[in-house]
Amino acid sequence: IRVFVPLDSFAVACGADEITEELAQLAATRGHDVEIVRNGSRGMAWLEPLVEVEVLGQRIAYGPIEPGEVAALLDAGFLHGDDHPKRIGDPEAHPFLKAQTRVTFRRCGLTDPLSLADYRRHGGFEGLARALAMEAGGVVAEVTQSGLRGRGGAGFPTGIKWKTVTEAAADRKYIVANADEGDSGTFADRMIMEGDPFCLIEGMAIAGVATGATKGFVYLRSEYPVAIRVMNEAVRRARADGVLGASVMGSWRAFDIEVRVGAGAYVCGEETSLLESLEGKRGQVRAKPPLPAHKGLFGKPTVINNVVTLASVPEILRAGASTYQALGTGRSRGTIPIQIAGNVARGGLFEAPFGLTLGEIVDGIGGGTRTGRAVRAVQVGGPLGAYFPRALFDTVFDYEAFAARDGLIGHAGIVVFDDSVDMAAQARFAFEFCAIESCGKCTPCRVGAVRGLETMDKVIAGERVGEHLELVEDLCNTMKFGSLCALGGFTPYPVMSALTHFPEDFRAAPLREAAE
Ligand code: NAI
Ligand code: SF4
Repeated sequence: IRVFVPLDSFAVACGADEITEELAQLAATRGHDVEIVRNGSRGMAWLEPLVEVEVLGQRIAYGPIEPGEVAALLDAGFLHGDDHPKRIGDPEAHPFLKAQTRVTFRRCGLTDPLSLADYRRHGGFEGLARALAMEAGGVVAEVTQSGLRGRGGAGFPTGIKWKTVTEAAADRKYIVANADEGDSGTFADRMIMEGDPFCLIEGMAIAGVATGATKGFVYLRSEYPVAIRVMNEAVRRARADGVLGASVMGSWRAFDIEVRVGAGAYVCGEETSLLESLEGKRGQVRAKPPLPAHKGLFGKPTVINNVVTLASVPEILRAGASTYQALGTGRSRGTIPIQIAGNVARGGLFEAPFGLTLGEIVDGIGGGTRTGRAVRAVQVGGPLGAYFPRALFDTVFDYEAFAARDGLIGHAGIVVFDDSVDMAAQARFAFEFCAIESCGKCTPCRVGAVRGLETMDKVIAGERVGEHLELVEDLCNTMKFGSLCALGGFTPYPVMSALTHFPEDFRAAPLREAAE
């Protein structure tokens, strides 16, 4: 009997390793013939650890299961899919999964992440095989036609980036997967690497075939120990199987991958500072131009893409660009893995075509707050993203619609806050975050963040609030237009959106003081 217990960090944080141990021990003592598969997460974080059993080819889920509950679960007939208060039934029939369009995450949670056979059974390496059989330029054209844009946040057309590298003349080119997923409330990169690592490997190999690069690096954050272990093992198995190496799947193409672990700095998610770090230097931002596509890792033309971008490519090649292009809205084509986090009833990963409204995501899919209080604000796009009030919940989830409302979708993370949030404290936090994480290369960010923090402290203390808020606004303009990279340049988004949409929290500070 096959039983699935996720190895995903969500589940592990909630006791999945202990559950696996209990299950193995109890099965052995009770004489059950059980094979435990450590799968990826289905993305329903509030149900983790979501334990599944396969009965007559049908998966039946139970969750959230806590360590110590396994004996009772077995007593209730779990191995036969019998009834239990935590029985969910067919996981794919669950409304949260059923309402999704899973393209990039189609295998996540379903397969054994480290089984090449399982990967192939579910369409794995078909995209790479098609890429290997294509004429030069065909792969880039396919990716361009799909409309895929960078899922790291900036939304730059992937096909154009690849074309730039393809056309650059050099003796060596590189593919770099940016797996330094530093945004608060985001976990899509991690879920792919833990739950379907061959998908990232395949996407990187396709990028290599398309551009002529023979070496790839996965730059992975040290805070992701499970992903580091799974990715390394997946690369080892892909190499042993002939997917990676001197002859990619028996072709004349060579491509290999190395996993490198960063030391944990937010700014190393910025592409040029990531490249510096990969080269063994201090992670400091480089001025652009030159673009990495022209002069990237070790001065060579480099495709540097986010994990989700690269992991979206195999399915585009397998099913064809038009299938992917048919999904989405406006210039935002395909699907986006929305990550719902913070104070929310049903947090997790929801993959859907672009086009849902923020309200549909937060109230409908997320189910409102976990505390049961009213949703007051949501921050979209990580710690440097704007705060949206309920009045803007009709904003459509796509790159342009968010930009038109002075926001950004970033890496598609949404953090929900209830009505107990203090938005002045959140604005202060944005400056504090920037002050801590700044690489120090440019003055608007290095000095601006510290001055912003000091000024917000004065606002919160009720000192000449109007005057200090003017100063904050002025500082935000300087940082927005004068910073070298997005860290300093985007810090004004959370600050200014908090001020614009929640002015009462700033004005209330001195009144609160006076009342005391
Ligand atoms: P950018 O707009 O400067 O560049 C986007 C990408 O396109 C880069 O890879 C750049 O090299 C490439 N590019 C631009 N013009 C090109 C051309 N003509 N040919 C080929 N390639 C070209 O944006 P940047 O600074 O790389 O990223 C900013 C974004 O990062 C923000 O939108 C933010 O949402 C996101 N972000 C994501 C985080 C995460 O954890 N995923 C953390 C912080 C910010
Ligand atoms: Fe470094 Fe900040 Fe300037 Fe970016 S904006 S280069 S993080 S100092």
